[in-house]
This record gives sequence, C-alpha cells and structure tokens, in this order.
Amino acid sequence: AFQPRVFSGVQPTGNLHLGNYLGAIIKFVALQHEHECLYCVVDMHAITVPQDPQELTRTIREVAAAFIASGVDPKKNIIFNQSQVSAHAELAWILNCTARIGWLNRMTQFKEKAGKDRENASVGLYVYPVLMAADILAYKATHVPVGEDQKQHLELARDIAQKFNNDFSASIARHGYGEAFFPQPEPLIQGAATRVMSLRDGSKKMSKSDPSDASRINLTDDADAIAAKVRKAKTDPEPLPSETAGLEARPEAENLVGIYAALGGISKQDVLNDFGGGQFSAFKNALVELAVTKLGPIGAEMKRLVADPGSIDKILGDGAERADAIARPNLAAVKDIVGF
Ligand code: ADP
Ligand code: NA
Repeated sequence: AFQPRVFSGVQPTGNLHLGNYLGAIIKFVALQHEHECLYCVVDMHAITVPQDPQELTRTIREVAAAFIASGVDPKKNIIFNQSQVSAHAELAWILNCTARIGWLNRMTQFKEKAGKDRENASVGLYVYPVLMAADILAYKATHVPVGEDQKQHLELARDIAQKFNNDFSASIARHGYGEAFFPQPEPLIQGAATRVMSLRDGSKKMSKSDPSDASRINLTDDADAIAAKVRKAKTDPEPLPSETAGLEARPEAENLVGIYAALGGISKQDVLNDFGGGQFSAFKNALVELAVTKLGPIGAEMKRLVADPGSIDKILGDGAERADAIARPNLAAVKDIVGF
C-alpha cells in the first residue's frame, strides 16, 4: 500500500481563470486538510509552446500567488516550481523510454494544441504527457485533483506506471520494493464544474488561450468586469428548468448553473430549486453577486502577493527544497531499478 499523497500542477501560461479555479485550485484547498499535498507551478510545460521569458517569470509568481490567495497554506503544503526540482526532467527521460509512441499518438490535447502545422510543433509538446507522468510519479502521488480535460493524461500516467512496474518487476523485487514501485495515480475529477465552458460558446472549454477575454472570468478581474462578462454570457431563450435533467441539451445554461453550484458549494439541483422556472436575468444577477463575493478577495490578495515577488520566491524556494527531499530518493531508487 502506498501512503496517500496529492500532486497537481497548473501551467504559468497566461490568465488564470474560473475554470482553473473550479476544476483544480478549489480542490487543492479542500484536500490540504486530508493529505500531504504538493502543488506545482509547472513551468517546464509552459515552454512547450512559444513564450515570452519576462512574461513567464511574472506568471510563475502569479500562479503561486493564486494558490496562496485561494487558501492553499504554503506551510502545510508544498508549493513549488517544477524547473527547480531536477527529478522531474530526469525521471521524464526514463519514462520516455517506457511510454510507447502509439500511446502518445492518441493524446487529443496534442492534436488540439499542435493545430494544423503538426510537423512544426515542438517535440516537448508531443512528450508533455510523459513529463506530466514524471511530475506525479516522482512523488509516488496517489491522488491528482484535475479538471476533466486532464483525464486522458492521467490514464497515460497510470499506463506508464504499470508498464514500468511490469518491465522491471524482477529488478523491483530484487531491490526490495515488493511487487510495484509506482502507485496507480487516481484522478480526482469532482464537483459541479469539472469542465467550465467558455461564456461565449458553450461548445468550447474556458481557456487561457481563448483570444476573447469575454469568454472567461479571470481570477484578477474586478467586480465590474465579472458583472459585465456574466451579464453578457450566452444563454438560450427558455427559462431555467426545475430539474437537472432539463439542462442536458442546454450547454450554456448547464455551465452557468454548474458555476453557481461549484462557487456556492451546493448541488446543481439546489441551484435549480432556487432559480428553476425563472428568467436568466435574475439568475445572472445572483451569479454576479456570488462570483464577486467569492473571487473578489482572491483577486485582491493575488495582486497584493505579486507586488512582493521576494516573498513568493522565498515560498517557492522553500517548497522546492521540500519537494526535492521527497523526489530525490525516489529517483535514486528508479535509477537502481533501471540498472544505472
Ligand atoms: P489551461 O488548460 O487553462 O491552460 P492548465 O493546463 O494549466 O490550464 O490546467 C490547470 C488545471 O486547470 C488542470 O487541472 C485543468 O484540468 C484545469 N482546467 C483548465 N481549464 C479548465 C476548465 N475550463 N474547466 C475545468 N478545469 C479546467
Ligand atoms: Na489544461
């Protein structure tokens, strides 16, 4: 049996948004009371696409600030920066030799991110899911809180862990690690908003890279911006249904109800008990109020924290030392198992 341990990462690649918050960060906060948790700013993933170095430095601190401002306690948890712990890159190489090309060819996120000019995508973007497996397995993490878009990558991480355990089973046993060296990391995809959609288009997920700023609520948006975006959010002409089954073919309505439920810590049915049968305008006013109440203090605290980069760098430096203390012996064991 493996000791329960939580790992998750967020890329420093631009505006953190409500999807990142409800899909991932809000769960980081809840899990910190139950398990040992590592929350990582995955900056090595951020360079798989073209990036601006000064902007990257700024965004690394902003992601750490978002964790802390949302309530992740940097003393209780390990908040750190991926590039500062070399085990991620070292283990990724070994796991690149475990993962199969056919497995990576099935990754839908690569197809989306590489676009039409696939020949010109970076090799890093292609092997990104293997680095993600290394991120998790370097700590033998057992639980990974993520949004639904990461489900396929988590399945790959499990396949890689299993193949490593199988390929090296004799060596693993010989070195005294029993039957399995790596755990099978389990995705925690939970809550009313595991896939937050664009406010402009119910068929696309809310994303940092959407050129339309009105498509997402950024964690640093002020009350006026949140109000304007929610009021302009696309809906359909029907009133809200009174049962969740009535949301099924209505992605925009379902999205807003899910956002309300996740922000309020209630179920979608609870939301419909209050707003079902009513018009969107009244529901949107309530949603604005809830979103401003919940997100306003987080945005303000993020701005306060990033104004003192030295303090954030200190937290990240301390986190990297603590992360390294866990990953280093695991990596040493992997090297022994492989025969290095
Ligand atoms: P992005 O996809 O915005 O570039 P990341 O890849 O860094 O962000 O993802 C950080 C976390 O946020 C992951 O757990 C991911 O699943 C989650 N996430 C990203 N977008 C959404 C969304 N629209 N809805 C729910 N969760 C999301
Ligand atoms: Na993502």
